[in-house]
Amino acid sequence: MENATAEKRNLDKCHRSFRLIMDLLDLTDHTLEGLCEKCSELPDQKLMITRILDQLLSVPRHGEGSTAANRPRYLTLLYLQKDRVTLKGDIFRLGDNGFSTIASGVSIDERPSFSFDLTREDVLEFDCPPDPISLEKFQERFHPELRKWLGEPLTNCVGYHMHGEPEGIVIGFNYPEGVSRYDGEVMKSLAVTVSSLSTLAYQITEIKEGFIYMIESLARASEVNDEDTGNHILRVNTFAKHLAMAMDQPESFCNEIGLVAQMHDVGKIHTPSRILRKPGPLNRDEWKEMEQHTLQGEKILGNAPRLTMARQIACAHHENYDGTGYPKGLKGNQIPLEAQIVKLADVYDALRSHRPYKDPMPHDAALRIIFSIDGHIQAAHFNPVLLDLFRREVRAFEEIYEKLG
Ligand SMILES: [Fe+2]
Ligand SMILES: [Fe+2]
Repeated sequence: MENATAEKRNLDKCHRSFRLIMDLLDLTDHTLEGLCEKCSELPDQKLMITRILDQLLSVPRHGEGSTAANRPRYLTLLYLQKDRVTLKGDIFRLGDNGFSTIASGVSIDERPSFSFDLTREDVLEFDCPPDPISLEKFQERFHPELRKWLGEPLTNCVGYHMHGEPEGIVIGFNYPEGVSRYDGEVMKSLAVTVSSLSTLAYQITEIKEGFIYMIESLARASEVNDEDTGNHILRVNTFAKHLAMAMDQPESFCNEIGLVAQMHDVGKIHTPSRILRKPGPLNRDEWKEMEQHTLQGEKILGNAPRLTMARQIACAHHENYDGTGYPKGLKGNQIPLEAQIVKLADVYDALRSHRPYKDPMPHDAALRIIFSIDGHIQAAHFNPVLLDLFRREVRAFEEIYEKLG
C-alpha cells in the first residue's frame, strides 16, 4: 500500500515536470514567434516574466489539480537586470488574478546589493526559522531599500543568477509554506527562460543595428562622388516615409521605406565623378552612363530578401508613370509603389537643392515644375493618386526641407 502511494507520488511529480517543460516550450515558441514577426522590439520583459510565472504556478503543487486555492499566496518576486553598475528592475506580487507589478524601475546602486553573492553562487535558497531573533537577523541580510519596497518582513527566499545579456537575478520572497524544492525548480526555469529570451532579443537588436549601419554606410558611400548633396539622403527618407504614411500604407512599409529610400542612388558608386560633377548638361553618352546607376544599384543590392524594397527602389526610381522613364520603360503600376514614392521625394528634393548643373529652387518654383504638363519633368511622370496626395502635403514637404536643409 505504502509502495503504491510512493509510486503515485512519483508519477505525479513526473507528470508535473513534464507539463512544466511543455508549458515552457509552448511559451518560448510563442515569444520567439512574436520576436521574429516584429524583429524590431525587445519583448516586454514584465509581460514575459508574469506570463511565465502564471503558467508555472498554475501547475498543481501537490498533485491535486490546479485551483486558485493551491497556488502560493503573497509571493513577491524581484527581477533585476544589470545596467552598468546598477541593478534595475521590477517587483511583482501574486494576487488572485495572477502576478501584477507593485514597484517599477526599482534600482539598487550600492554593492553588494545583498549579502548573498548571486554572481558567484548562481542559486540561493533560504528559509528563516520563525523565532523573532532569527527573523530580525534575516532582515539584515537584505538591502534596506529592498525591505522598504517589499513592505513586509522577509521570511524566506529562493533566487537564481540569470546569465546572458544582460545579466540579472530573479528572487522569490515570502512563500507562504516555505521554500520547497519545487519552488527552486520554478525559479530556475524562470531564470533560464528569461535569460535565453533576453539574450536572443539582445542579439536580434544587435543584428538590426548592424543592418541599419550597413544601409547608412552604403548610402553615404554612394554620395562620395556626388558633389554638395548635403542631407539629400536623409530628406528623401523622410519625404518617402511621409508620403507612405499619407497613403495609409502599413506601418512596416512606412518604416522600411523611411530606412531604405536613402539607398536609391547606391549604384552611383560606379558612376565616374567627371559625370556626377559635370557643371553643364550631359551629352548622350554621359547620360547613358548615368542611367546605368539604376541597374548597378539593383546589382549591388543583390538577391537578399531583406533588401527587396531597397532593390526595387534603386532599380525603378527613374521610371516614369507614363512609360517614358529608364532603365526598363515600365509603365503605371508595373513600377513598384515604393519606387513611385521615392521618385517623387527625390525629384522634389533635387529641384530644391544645389546641383553642379543648377541652382537651388524655392518651394513654389519646384511645385510648378512637378505639376507642369510639359518639360523635362512633368506631372505625367508621376502616379496621379500620389500627385494628389503630394498636393495635399506640400506644406509638410516645405517644412521638412527647411528643417533638414
Ligand atoms: Fe537616381
Ligand atoms: Fe537622389
